[in-house]
Amino acid sequence: MDIAFLMLLVLSLLLFPNGICKSLATGPPVVNIGSILQFDSTTGGVVAVAIHTALEDINSDPTVLNGTTLKVQIKDTNCFDGFLGMVQALQFMETDVIALIGPQCSTISHTISYVANELRIPLMSFASDATLSSIQFLFFVRTGPSDLYQMAAVAEADYNHWKIVTAIYIDNVYGRNGIAALDDALTLKRCKISYKVGFPSNAKRSDLISLLVSVSSMESRVIILHTGTEPGLKLFSMAHQLNMMGNGYVWIATDWLSAYLDANSSVPVETISGLQGVLTLRPHIPNSKMKSNLVSKWSTQSKKYNYSDVCINTYGFYVYDSVWAVAHALDAFFDDGGRISFSNDLHDGTGGTLHLEAMSIFDMGNKLLEKIRKVNFRGLSGQVQFDAVGNLLHPAYDIINVIGNGMRTIGFWSNYSGLLSTVSPEALDSKPPNTSLANQHLYDVIWPGETAQRPRGWVFPSNAKQLKIGVPNRFSFKEIVTVDNATGSMKGYCIDVFTQALALLPYPVSYKFVPFGNGTENPNYDKLVQMIESCSYRGYCNYNEADSNF
Ligand SMILES: *[C@@H]1O[C@H](CO)[C@@H](O)[C@H](O)[C@H]1NC(C)=O
Ligand SMILES: *[C@@H]1O[C@H](CO)[C@@H](O)[C@H](O)[C@H]1NC(C)=O
Ligand SMILES: *[C@@H]1O[C@H](CO)[C@@H](O)[C@H](O)[C@H]1NC(C)=O
Ligand SMILES: *[C@@H]1O[C@H](CO)[C@@H](O)[C@H](O)[C@H]1NC(C)=O
Ligand SMILES: *[C@@H]1O[C@H](CO)[C@@H](O)[C@H](O)[C@H]1NC(C)=O
Ligand SMILES: *[C@@H]1O[C@H](CO)[C@@H](O)[C@H](O)[C@H]1NC(C)=O
Ligand SMILES: *[C@@H]1O[C@H](CO)[C@@H](O)[C@H](O)[C@H]1NC(C)=O
Repeated sequence: MDIAFLMLLVLSLLLFPNGICKSLATGPPVVNIGSILQFDSTTGGVVAVAIHTALEDINSDPTVLNGTTLKVQIKDTNCFDGFLGMVQALQFMETDVIALIGPQCSTISHTISYVANELRIPLMSFASDATLSSIQFLFFVRTGPSDLYQMAAVAEADYNHWKIVTAIYIDNVYGRNGIAALDDALTLKRCKISYKVGFPSNAKRSDLISLLVSVSSMESRVIILHTGTEPGLKLFSMAHQLNMMGNGYVWIATDWLSAYLDANSSVPVETISGLQGVLTLRPHIPNSKMKSNLVSKWSTQSKKYNYSDVCINTYGFYVYDSVWAVAHALDAFFDDGGRISFSNDLHDGTGGTLHLEAMSIFDMGNKLLEKIRKVNFRGLSGQVQFDAVGNLLHPAYDIINVIGNGMRTIGFWSNYSGLLSTVSPEALDSKPPNTSLANQHLYDVIWPGETAQRPRGWVFPSNAKQLKIGVPNRFSFKEIVTVDNATGSMKGYCIDVFTQALALLPYPVSYKFVPFGNGTENPNYDKLVQMIESCSYRGYCNYNEADSNF
């Protein structure tokens, strides 16, 4: 822009503040967005590089926000100390920003969602916590898929084979809400979590070991691990030492694992070798020219912003798109007469003083939010468009098997089809949904213990209550059922049918045959029924097995 023109522009802005020159310069020269991240974490690094890269691309593109520079202020925050993290985040809210990216930690997300509502600042959140929603928090905008969908994908992966699962989770809002979503998703498939166990983020090594030992004594061998990176990797390495990563086990780690493996350029060899056979999920990002462009310039960008050892993962794609979503929405906002101003009339409603005057309200925040909800553009992560309740349309996941020194995609789950499939979600999106189970199919998995044979998913637990099965100890028709004189066990046609049928069940039934009758006369059926009836009326049994043989 030439100097004379700039002078004219400034002059005319001073003389005609109400925008006579609106068609020349629709926005102010600089607009700030904010972000709250944990700098020393991998995700913090990915997100920071993605935001900076998006801003470079937006500011050098004359077709968006022409004449306005979009800038970011990033605040480092502590995810582990919830209180400190919240105070740091609240202090940051005193900065005049028109939108926020993050916060990174779900504990802080909840607090900041309340504040963003009051200050009318759209919160572009990549938190997957299913309970954060734009219904409760109007200014919450989810820019990645919610755990509701991830857990639906996990449940789908289970349900054809295994009816019961064990869930291990980190005991914070993210972990608890994720497991609640998993519980709901499994119930819809008539499956269930037979054992769930949480641990605090500061759990000691000995606590984690006894947690794993308790898991190994249960019947389910399908273990779903919904934690953060650090505790998750620690659990895997302990499970390895406890021989829980071998034959017979199924481990499904939620997307924290794929995010770590994608972003970390130097995963230690012993880490990856301890993860052989594990399944994990990753939000699906379709391949495109834009995607490969960003991937190819990522290493330059990450060096430039001092995160040279951080590679891109899905958070990077979603965050890059959410900065663009803000830019597109701002364009529409300015076109529609939007102006950026803040006011300090925050009242606590009680007439008291909470000294909130340092924070200011974004006066036209509602209008910007409305424009953000209406964006519709082709982004890196696919079409960026929100549904009526603020979810990105068409959530989908990659299903991944950790083998060798990397990850292999064995199929996809998409909300659109509701199925697991080897066909990419974008290929299915263009067709009418076909929920035929014939399409439900994944490529072969190499399971823990380096076997291609699908684990049964359960064992007889060491602590289960046994089912008692009354068997007539008959005198006649002994080929139907009788007590084997030599061994004392039951045998016969009925017993064979029963044990064969049990073998077909996808979960264990621990049982014991209890002979009824003395073998010299056929036992009286009515008497047996009477005994069972009197048990169920009383609700408990205090019969003496020695007396009745039952
Ligand atoms: C990669 O993983 C290792 C081991 O977990 C860790 O020490 C290192 O800091 C990670 N690197 C990055 C860039 O996150
Ligand atoms: C951007 O603004 C400059 C100066 O105002 C103008 O010359 C240029 O045509 C604009 N570009 C677009 C794509 O609108
Ligand atoms: C990266 O680190 C160097 C050296 O510490 C510093 O001079 C530079 O400002 C940093 N760059 C960014 C983008 O933080
Ligand atoms: C997910 O699928 C369900 C059922 O088809 C549909 O009602 C819902 O809108 C979908 N969600 C999204 C975010 O696309
Ligand atoms: C759905 O998929 C099944 C199996 O691939 C196929 O036989 C059937 O014709 C499909 N139905 C529709 C309506 O496309
Ligand atoms: C079972 O064993 C008892 C003695 O141990 C014997 O009297 C009886 O005849 C045997 N019954 C059969 C069917 O072999
Ligand atoms: C076997 O039980 C029947 C009643 O079920 C009884 O009449 C009979 O005396 C019993 N025989 C012996 C040897 O205990």
